[in-house]
Amino acid sequence: MHILVLNGPNLNLLGLREPEHYGTKSYADLIALLEAEAKACDVTLECFQSNHEGDLVDAIQNAYGKADGIIINPAAYTHTSVALLDAVKAVQIPTVEVHLTDPDTRENFRHISYIRAACIQTICGKGFAGYIEALHTLIKHCKA
Ligand code: DQA
Repeated sequence: MHILVLNGPNLNLLGLREPEHYGTKSYADLIALLEAEAKACDVTLECFQSNHEGDLVDAIQNAYGKADGIIINPAAYTHTSVALLDAVKAVQIPTVEVHLTDPDTRENFRHISYIRAACIQTICGKGFAGYIEALHTLIKHCKA
């Protein structure tokens, strides 16, 4: 099994960025945690972070025929991007939306998620553990 892990804008600044919301651990810490869990589950990962919407769309398109599942935290593009929604709909790869915080309990502008409509599950407010849960969801989904 091969899983693509996508992280959107400003998630490269984890640890530095608003630690009261996002914690003190870094993006590298997140990837190391995911890589270790994937190895234990006999899954390969490709991890990509970008601050650019089009790069994330390209990564989703390039996953067609290669990835069995996608874990995505689109960050701020969650609330603005029809392009990311359309990309996931186009490739039809099972996708789990993850957020470190729970956007539904934050500012009103964070309450809309465009990509949610194309995702098999959304996991919010569980920090790094949400990504691990997403990995297990995709493994179960692909084995079913
Ligand atoms: C986020 C929530 C978004 O509203 C925000 O723009 C982010 C991170 C989260 O992981 O909680 O950048 O996706």
